[in-house]
Amino acid sequence: MNPIDSINPKELEDQYELLVYPRRNIVLVRGKGAKLYDDRGQEYIDCASNVGVSNIGHGREEVARAIYEQYLTLSNCYGMFYNPVRARLAEKLISLSPQGLKRVFFCNSGAEAVEAAFKFARASTGKTEIIAAMRGFHGKTFGALAATWGEEYQKPFVPMMPGLKHVPYNNFQKLNEAVNEDTAAVILELVQGEGGVRVGDKSYFHQVRNLCNQKGILLIFDEVQTGFGRTGTLFACEQFVEPDMLCLAKSLAGGIPMGAVLCSNAVNVPVKSHTSTFGGNPLACAAALASLEVIERENLPEKAKTLGEYFLGELRSIKSEKIREVRGLGLMLGIELKEKAGPYVQKLMESGVIVLLAGPTVIRLLPPLIITREEVDVVLSALKEALG
Ligand SMILES: Cc1ncc(COP(=O)(O)O)c(C=O)c1O
Repeated sequence: MNPIDSINPKELEDQYELLVYPRRNIVLVRGKGAKLYDDRGQEYIDCASNVGVSNIGHGREEVARAIYEQYLTLSNCYGMFYNPVRARLAEKLISLSPQGLKRVFFCNSGAEAVEAAFKFARASTGKTEIIAAMRGFHGKTFGALAATWGEEYQKPFVPMMPGLKHVPYNNFQKLNEAVNEDTAAVILELVQGEGGVRVGDKSYFHQVRNLCNQKGILLIFDEVQTGFGRTGTLFACEQFVEPDMLCLAKSLAGGIPMGAVLCSNAVNVPVKSHTSTFGGNPLACAAALASLEVIERENLPEKAKTLGEYFLGELRSIKSEKIREVRGLGLMLGIELKEKAGPYVQKLMESGVIVLLAGPTVIRLLPPLIITREEVDVVLSALKEALG
């Protein structure tokens, strides 16, 4: 017997790890495609994708092979040395991103990408203030946390990094009023994920873009969750406007930790001022290249668009007194209830569907983009049953 099969993961994790995650009472051991399996062999349809990581699905052989081969070739290569795999990924990402984005900084997570963007904004503009949105989520390291909305996250760790201001999302007038001569950057999600799956208006982002142009403010889009096909285009900003910096992570490397900030020529930082030991390591770069190849070959952004439209339409046709609103873009969907969503998330899990919360009353669906229409129909039946 494999020694890992004889342990009790719940007991060990509860005993030995810091208890910072609200846990669900299952042990996940395997994933394939859009399916996850627990230690009892129970199958689940994954509508969480590890909060937007697994856009290409679980257990992809293309990524596994790339990682295996790259590890045997060279797994780490500090940024002071050139490396062909990192070079290829940098070129690839820039070629796939909006025209004005010309350079990339590699890191290891979403929060790190946001941290880097804030530092780059200060260094590039010589100004200190950053404006973020209420209900925005940008991660939990100190800089990112200051931009993340929510007392529950910030309160245990005050004082916050100074210079952060929050304004209501999707409200141009309030943002305009908050801008002053010290404003270095504005950071926004195009679809607020943790904040309840809220899609901003095109006109709002156009107004913000114009304001930033007029005032010499850098516009940062946090696409850590919306990136890599999730909303129906490779990057959500393709449906809105171009940023000066684009923060990426989660699904970038097919499940391997990696983050990146794509930057316009307005971004300039001194040599040595911001670096990362693991940032751009060839192992993660190889995984990212393999994952991008899958996204392109299988046309996953288009698939997210068409299947997302079907999913959204079907969700909107569910007749339930419990539903307040259904919203979303591509395969990033939210069902806002008139009551707490937690019990429904649990009920769905018991019927074989894993979903997420986005705030207390919103059920968030982020399935792998390779999910089939048949699997979506099974999820819809489970939702009808749970919310009926
Ligand atoms: C929009 C957004 N930004 C940043 C982050 C932080 O990413 P990480 O958990 O990799 O630090 C998240 C994580 O959920 C996110 O959704």
